[in-house]
Amino acid sequence: MAREIAEQPEAVARTLDALLPLVPELAALARPRRRVLLAGRGTSDNAAVYGRYVCEALAGVPAALAAPSVATHYGARLDLSDTLVVSLSQSGSTGEIVETQRWARDCGAATLAVTNTAGSPLTEEADLAFVTEAGPERAVPATKTFTTALVAVGLLLPALTGREPEGLRALPDAVAEAVGRGGAAERAASVLAARRGGTVVTGRGLTFPVALETGLKLEETCLRPVRGLSYADLQHGPRAVLDGTTAVVVVAPTEGPVLPDLTAFTASLPATGAAVVGLGGDEALGAHCDPWVRGPVLGEALSAVTTAVLGQLVAERLAAELGLDPDAPRGLRKVTQTE
Ligand code: AGP
Repeated sequence: MAREIAEQPEAVARTLDALLPLVPELAALARPRRRVLLAGRGTSDNAAVYGRYVCEALAGVPAALAAPSVATHYGARLDLSDTLVVSLSQSGSTGEIVETQRWARDCGAATLAVTNTAGSPLTEEADLAFVTEAGPERAVPATKTFTTALVAVGLLLPALTGREPEGLRALPDAVAEAVGRGGAAERAASVLAARRGGTVVTGRGLTFPVALETGLKLEETCLRPVRGLSYADLQHGPRAVLDGTTAVVVVAPTEGPVLPDLTAFTASLPATGAAVVGLGGDEALGAHCDPWVRGPVLGEALSAVTTAVLGQLVAERLAAELGLDPDAPRGLRKVTQTE
């Protein structure tokens, strides 16, 4: 996992080189459609949540997450003739996602596969395949396949609008900067190790999916129950559990419309007694966090990629501190088939 985290600057650069030339093809597929539906499981589902925010918040195109059981168990017939369905699976062989994509085509959708595996079942049946260039990923926890999937899904923005996410060409350097934050991540891991009462990971908007993904990384590598929640939801009940035995990890972009409210929310946390760990954000947000794992300064959309790297570093360091092997978490496999 540690090696694959470190490989991300090159993985992101290769993925951009491979996929930018395909943006016109995606535009031709996507622009005649009025809405987007995204399907994935686990980490790929978190990349799908990111795609939803890219489509709706940045491109102004309605988007939603698919419920695969509608296809696999209910066999519902929907009219998807005005829909682009984006199926995400790093392996390209998670059965229910392949099946959902097949169902979507039968329902009239245009289909885009986002996968790290060329020639996989998902690519074979899609109208267009965005194959990320992460290289083989051996550790069970997805790291470089997640960030490269974010890059792939982020290209929905130029495909739908002609506008690139701010800072796209500088992204590999920014990812390298994030990879270099191991020292601060180690301090964050020590704080989390001492808080055994539970951890909540929170954010909002374009970095909300990274809160979900950081929560997933902490669960599978550190074997602790963690909740990933929008801070808006956190305030509607779950906030009551926060006390001196717990920790909140705040995932934030360095700019954007969500940052001021997220900063005010973060300022309210120390009074609960919870440890407050910051991933990304600006100086004002970082001032309320201890420790603050500072991320590179980047446009909001691509902050998701670099804050994801910070979360991976913290999870990997915490697993090491707990004496766990993050590469092979108990009871998990690289590809999971749901019966
Ligand atoms: C995440 O670290 C896991 N490896 C898991 O959630 C994974 O993303 C999920 O099982 C889906 O796999 P896929 O992307 O190959 O479809």
